[in-house]
Amino acid sequence: MTAQDRINEYWTGRAPAYDAYQQRPERLDADRAAWSEIWEKALPPAPLDVLDVGTGSGYVALTLAGLGHRVTGIDLSEGMLTEARRHGAELSSGPVFRLGDAVAPEFPDGSFDAIVGRYVAWTLRTPGEAVANWIRLLRPGGLVAMVDSTWFADGLDAAGFYDAEVQSLLPLAAAKSIDETALALANGGLEDVSVTPLTTIFELDNRYGVSPGHEVQMQFMVTGRRV
Ligand SMILES: C[S@@+](CC[C@H](N)C(=O)[O-])C[C@H]1O[C@@H](n2cnc3c(N)ncnc32)[C@H](O)[C@@H]1O
Repeated sequence: MTAQDRINEYWTGRAPAYDAYQQRPERLDADRAAWSEIWEKALPPAPLDVLDVGTGSGYVALTLAGLGHRVTGIDLSEGMLTEARRHGAELSSGPVFRLGDAVAPEFPDGSFDAIVGRYVAWTLRTPGEAVANWIRLLRPGGLVAMVDSTWFADGLDAAGFYDAEVQSLLPLAAAKSIDETALALANGGLEDVSVTPLTTIFELDNRYGVSPGHEVQMQFMVTGRRV
């Protein structure tokens, strides 16, 4: 079993609980409004062709479809895709969800105007290779937009994520600064890389709390452009 297989198994085991947490009713309306505003600001106006890598239970893909984009969400966890497809079926023009590797998505060159991902960069086995592949899939001027944080600056052990061998294979898993994620985008070949703190999410996290094993931390939108 490869390290990626073990990552996929981990997320499939967590999928129902992860999705339920994302949908918790006391926060859902405020959460949806905040994320819609964030993505509306981050991307050019709809409709764009957007790829959501590591879509999980589809939260970002569904948000972007709600903004009028044509969205494809890919993930390697069948359990997560089951949750995403369940949500997508509730919409008339929901995203398409497919099994696919965020590091090497299988689409023709120039298929997308934007490639997005939330809470995914930290768990990529080869972020540099991923960024190079995303650039190939983007049309000229296209955007990569990744939301992430320094979730495990002290290592993942305490949080109980993955086993030690898998952790050691993930270059951004224990990033101490979001600048490491920004650098991965820039080194991969993207231009105009910028980092924006997501203060509305920070406020919501403070008000409603965060999931077990996490502390409230600033999240960031990291963007870069294909010239
Ligand atoms: C923390 S979850 C984030 C899910 C979703 N993006 C969100 O915002 O809730 C990380 C997701 O990345 C997926 N993932 C990890 N490595 C991947 C890869 N190489 N290709 C595709 N998906 C991957 C996992 O299966 C999991 O669904």
